[in-house]
Amino acid sequence: MNLSTEIADYKFETCLMNAAGVHCQFREELDGLLNSKAGSFVTKTATSQERKGNPEPRFVSHLDASINSMGLPNQGIDYYLDYLELLERKNVFLSVSGLSKEEIFEVLLKVEKSNFKGLTELNLSCPNVVGKPQTAYDFELMREILDRVYSFFTKPLGVKLPPYFDLVHFDKVAMILNDYPLAFVNTINSIGNGLWIKDETVVLKPKQGFGGIGGSAIKATALANVHAFYQRLNSSIAIIGTGGIVTGQDAFEHILCGASMVQIGTALAYEGPEIFEWVGQELSQIMAEKGYDTIHSFRGQLKYIEE
Ligand code: SIN
Repeated sequence: MNLSTEIADYKFETCLMNAAGVHCQFREELDGLLNSKAGSFVTKTATSQERKGNPEPRFVSHLDASINSMGLPNQGIDYYLDYLELLERKNVFLSVSGLSKEEIFEVLLKVEKSNFKGLTELNLSCPNVVGKPQTAYDFELMREILDRVYSFFTKPLGVKLPPYFDLVHFDKVAMILNDYPLAFVNTINSIGNGLWIKDETVVLKPKQGFGGIGGSAIKATALANVHAFYQRLNSSIAIIGTGGIVTGQDAFEHILCGASMVQIGTALAYEGPEIFEWVGQELSQIMAEKGYDTIHSFRGQLKYIEE
């Protein structure tokens, strides 16, 4: 079965990869993804300098659900650029962000001036930095940032979005994104600011327990966001579907909704990189049963119930 896919001019042997934040902070973890059946990887979101992130406990998970308030722990942009510049493969993703507009521009300028030849994902949706709202919920700010970024950044770029919950917001965000030559949009990040309780106590230390929710519980929201943007974005902007992928059936549904590539987060954290092998096998089996040879033959072909 052919699970290959493309984003902009980049080709991938399979459409499965990790979600930023999972198994991708350190070189050894990235090597582990390179040596797995994943079609690519994305690095942990990098800021201008190394960050320790929020105090622990800051991540709790099961196979199909998680809550996190990591607070962008990462090794700093230089660490990831050093690693990526030495790779022979170019079909990989570098995730970047900043705690201010100026920091975002500073990090992206470094990427622009570097020898990195892969795809850059600008994370506009981290819900866990104390005192910093999610950028992509402020539509004016999102436009201001993209305007400025495209005044100097010439490499293939995409954005990581938070979930939206209203059709008007899908319209507004798509209208903004369609004004830029984005290579891709990645939807969704975790559903921000949920609470898990155990023994009458929150399970996370930062933010009095508030954290981003991932895993199966968010699949319905993820599928809706993938399909809403598939319906609204220029066809030149590929969609990466993230959220609630544990099985081949979940990956199949993301692609049916319009995803060109799918990312696994919570289930990867629980199972490790072997997950790509079995999700790939399950996806291939579903495609074979339904008579689809390639993911292109059913991508976006979600059926509606007509009168
Ligand atoms: C974190 O580091 O807090 C998670 C990153 C994200 O949700 O973008």
